[in-house]
Amino acid sequence: MPRIIIDTDPGVDDAIAILMALAAPSLELAGLTVVGGNVPHASCLRNALALLEYAGREDVPVFRGSSRPLSGKFPYSRRVHGRSGLSRPLPEPTVRPQPEGAVDFLATQLSARPGEMTLVALGPLTNLARLERQSPGSLSRAAALVIMGGAVDCPGNFTPHAEFNFYSDPRAAHEVLTCGVPLTLVDLGATRQVAIDREAAAGLHSDHPLGRLAAQLTQDWFEVDDRRERFHFHDPLALAAALEPAVITTRQATLAVETGGAEAGGAEAGASRVTASGGPVALADKVNVERLFALVGGWLGWGG
Ligand code: BDR
Ligand code: CA
Repeated sequence: MPRIIIDTDPGVDDAIAILMALAAPSLELAGLTVVGGNVPHASCLRNALALLEYAGREDVPVFRGSSRPLSGKFPYSRRVHGRSGLSRPLPEPTVRPQPEGAVDFLATQLSARPGEMTLVALGPLTNLARLERQSPGSLSRAAALVIMGGAVDCPGNFTPHAEFNFYSDPRAAHEVLTCGVPLTLVDLGATRQVAIDREAAAGLHSDHPLGRLAAQLTQDWFEVDDRRERFHFHDPLALAAALEPAVITTRQATLAVETGGAEAGGAEAGASRVTASGGPVALADKVNVERLFALVGGWLGWGG
């Protein structure tokens, strides 16, 4: 049975990815490691705990990670994800995060089970970069490393060149991409192939409690602003590709990230552009959209 750890900054699409992982058959979700990103770390942590409690999965441990990037401050994305980070309010969680920090948990898990743990990163890469700084070689012990981030051959979604996760901590993104570990990168070029419009979102329904919440999160996201046209399944695509690689084709690349002054001035100064000549990356290319939605719809009971 595959074992995965999700590093995440929930976030509406992170939340849907987490619900997918909880609903997927034959999968052991070994933990959620939280990073600040879409909203401040305290809100991301709360959202992770609230989702698990809603799902009745308090057995999945949650670990506090980085509340700041390697340098500077997170820019946050409240415009997209709302003040709390979730488009539908969930009850205040009663479960607490683990006393151990995210980086220590990742180091212990990866060294205890080399080659067994799939790591899926859905937020800024700060926790993963700190892990490699603290325990070099840790990421090489993952069975697979799948990252959502970057805008390789396409426009960004936060600046003309930058994707939000990489923009939030360009130095961390650079260090992870160039640490020498082969990884799969699901960038905006791939996730832009996976969006649904308002009408399709309104048609989502499920008898499965997790599927129902995932549909409601999507529908409520459209309710915030009637000019919203498309919801992108960025993080759900990365999660699905980690569990079912056939939902994407990949092409080999060597990639790095321009940190462009990030060390001096924080994220605002970083260009965060993805460049050639770095570490080995299997870059997501074409998405089999039909297969993806069949898979996700099956797990979440959408349409059922
Ligand atoms: C990424 O940024 C966040 O807003 C989403 O959760 C996703 O991880 C898309 O650029
Ligand atoms: Ca995310």
